[in-house]
Amino acid sequence: MRRVLLFFVFLVLAPTSIYGDTDPSDASALRVMYQGLHSPGQLTKWTSNGGDPCVENWKGVKCSSSRVTEINLSGLGLSGDMGYQLTSLTSLTNLDMSNNNLGNQIPYNLPPNLQRLNFAGCGFSGSLPYSISLMTSLKYLQVTSIT
Ligand SMILES: *[C@@H]1O[C@H](CO)[C@@H](O)[C@H](O)[C@H]1NC(C)=O
Repeated sequence: MRRVLLFFVFLVLAPTSIYGDTDPSDASALRVMYQGLHSPGQLTKWTSNGGDPCVENWKGVKCSSSRVTEINLSGLGLSGDMGYQLTSLTSLTNLDMSNNNLGNQIPYNLPPNLQRLNFAGCGFSGSLPYSISLMTSLKYLQVTSIT
């Protein structure tokens, strides 16, 4: 009887603890980002429909257990925007989007716990959004403005 019970416990826990499925909010934010960037082929494994960023090793994405901790899409010739769900990425500490064409405004809603943020050469103009001053974990910020 106890053996049967253990077996069921194992089955219930297996998907999260063994395979490390990505946190649903993190996965959703990345799918929305992919769409915002016009679903570029150079982002191998990425998809706007299903998929699992941490398990499938989406290009430029690093995870710790089920959370996305690092995104580096530097210099991949991307254009568009990063989507409207960046604030869900609460475990993201390192974001490097440098040298892509991300439009003209630095997004206001950024991942809140970033330590390193690189927006150099992204085509932004204007000033830094106030929200950046509220990111208390930020240690490194690189950004260039074309105006
Ligand atoms: C991101 O990737 C580029 C190109 O591979 C590399 O030069 C850069 O150092 C990386 N950035 C970070 C923050 O690791």
